[in-house]
Amino acid sequence: MTTAHLAAEGFEAQLREELRRLGVGVRAEHSRLFVCDDAPSPSAWAANTWFDVEEIGIASIGDAAAKLRAMQRNWAMYAPVHARRATLIQERLPHVSAKPLVFPAEAPTAPLGSWTLLASDRLLCAARCASPFPNGEVAFVEDRDGPPSRAYLKLWEALTRLGARPGAGTRCLDLGATPGGWTWVLASLGAEVLAIDKAPLDPKVAAMPGVRWRGESAFALDPASVGPIDWLFSDIICYPARLLALVRRWMAEGRVRNFVCTIKFQGDTDHDTVAHFAAIPGGRLLHLHHNKHELTWALLR
Ligand SMILES: C[S@@+](CC[C@H](N)C(=O)[O-])C[C@H]1O[C@@H](n2cnc3c(N)ncnc32)[C@H](O)[C@@H]1O
Repeated sequence: MTTAHLAAEGFEAQLREELRRLGVGVRAEHSRLFVCDDAPSPSAWAANTWFDVEEIGIASIGDAAAKLRAMQRNWAMYAPVHARRATLIQERLPHVSAKPLVFPAEAPTAPLGSWTLLASDRLLCAARCASPFPNGEVAFVEDRDGPPSRAYLKLWEALTRLGARPGAGTRCLDLGATPGGWTWVLASLGAEVLAIDKAPLDPKVAAMPGVRWRGESAFALDPASVGPIDWLFSDIICYPARLLALVRRWMAEGRVRNFVCTIKFQGDTDHDTVAHFAAIPGGRLLHLHHNKHELTWALLR
């Protein structure tokens, strides 16, 4: 079985190391696309994963398009080489709408395959992929007035990819909340938000209905002082091991249902701590299109 992982842009080294640690053999690297012989393993650093990958000989541009169309309707092109020829093939395939999403929106449900040209007469393709977005790239119609920082895009993407979001009246804890992009997202959804940060929130966010702020360290916060929580969010700037300890503490307390946390790396990627997050049963690790040198860990129950 051939699987291919498309590394998030700029994070090829992280994907290579992750696959090595998972014991996944990489047969070939085609720019950001890592072609593997093993069965698909969940990969955090992949922007997309291609399943049951096939290599096909093509006689012409028309032949390539016909062969892809015969397999299924919608295709996303990945063209690190032979870009002009690849574009001519893609133009003969049904148009795939790349319209930015208006949050809150559901992720597209139509199957989206991926293909690339290995050589002018050979293509690699997969009718089934992990991401419903072309090459895992999620775009939104941005809000340039409401949120005080661009971090809101990360949370929009996380909630869209997870297919779940806090509803009206749900109790959310936002750790490392300032200036308040995530709190703005949550309050806009009608949630009750307790924002924790030593620095104050942007006044416009602080004034939103349902928002409360406490000027404390998230690490010193006593779970008993906040009561039951439907969603715990963290975008705290801290070492991954410190975040892991915080998550374990809140999990052990048993007062939180869902978690969405950014694991931020300073300098080297802390693969050991990532492996501990990956081992938490039921959790998911994602590199969002809007993540920088970060991963997003989520546990929904
Ligand atoms: C990347 S910013 C968060 C951005 C925020 N999610 C938004 O959407 O605007 C990281 C925040 O973590 C906060 N932080 C760092 N250490 C903290 C701690 N011990 N307790 C609470 N917040 C902390 C910083 O003050 C900073 O506001």
